[in-house]
Amino acid sequence: MKTLFGELADGTKVSSWFLENGGTRLRVLDYGGIVQSLEIPDRDGRYANVSLGFDTIEDYIAGSPYFGALIGRYGNRVAEGRFTLDGENHQLPLNDGAHSLHGGTEGFDRRVWEVEPFTDGPDVGLHLYLTSVDGEMGYPGTLEVKVTYTLTGGGDWRIDYEATTDKATFVNLTSHVYWNLAGEGTGSVQDHELEIAASRYLPVDPGLIPTGEPADVAGTPFDFREAKAIGRDLRVAHQQLLYSKGVDHNYVLDKGLTARPEHAAGLRDPSSGRTLTIATTEPGLQFYSGNFLDGTLVGTGGNIYRQGDALCLETQRFPDSPNQPSFPSTLLRPGQTYRTTTIHSFGC
Ligand code: BGC
Repeated sequence: MKTLFGELADGTKVSSWFLENGGTRLRVLDYGGIVQSLEIPDRDGRYANVSLGFDTIEDYIAGSPYFGALIGRYGNRVAEGRFTLDGENHQLPLNDGAHSLHGGTEGFDRRVWEVEPFTDGPDVGLHLYLTSVDGEMGYPGTLEVKVTYTLTGGGDWRIDYEATTDKATFVNLTSHVYWNLAGEGTGSVQDHELEIAASRYLPVDPGLIPTGEPADVAGTPFDFREAKAIGRDLRVAHQQLLYSKGVDHNYVLDKGLTARPEHAAGLRDPSSGRTLTIATTEPGLQFYSGNFLDGTLVGTGGNIYRQGDALCLETQRFPDSPNQPSFPSTLLRPGQTYRTTTIHSFGC
């Protein structure tokens, strides 16, 4: 079901699409492919919206920290917004201090996507299409992007990303949902139990650019191989936690890059019993513990979002890969198709 959500300054209409299947309810905007709300039941059947967001398009435009949005052309940071490709230098807009973050000042999160609903057997969903022209936000090549959101008969939310280009370029697409399984606006997620299937993570420099050498999580606050409360080690005086005011790091998933989605992470809110498990084809997972939420935004339910009121688990290739030859490649050439899949499964 499609309804009018709002209007951009230039008069472009923004629509909201509502999907429900297998007990999961999803509201998606064509602006940014934003998941505006995602509702799932708790152990007593009570629904809550477990994803941070806003009620109006004006709020999204004014200053959303990527709530629920599709991220592109490049998820996370590119150092100094610079890379060299086939001998040519490219400069991206800098929107994160000295660096380029999440595709630049006008990333895919701020574009209006073309949306086509579908039904496929027990599944329902939306195809989202976007053309990003050659040179947009500094990236070479016209990129044709197709993202499919599927709500399966079992209530899973599956994302399939596809892209092709007419010139060599770098691509790293992801989804930036801020999760709070107790319900958005209910406070901190520090009691949520998180498990990440990764023995290594990527330490960063003070600008949050990976230094390049993966480090073992063993014996550090970054160890989530066994589920533990998010808040347990967040105040340990570890240099890496100081840089990012919490965790804001790419985990190197033990499974690596896989042809099919494999387990990456699990999250559980003990108070409601709600669970989320994530499987992906991607080799990386950015765990961001909501460090930069600072109490200045009022969310969907009318409550203020403060530091640590949600977390992001962004499946991706590694940050700054265009400048880090030892990382899995994010290069896409004409004739190739970029394809990744991430599945979110819910339970209680
Ligand atoms: C980044 C954070 C950033 C956040 C919101 C995350 O993916 O890693 O550093 O603050 O997105 O912009």
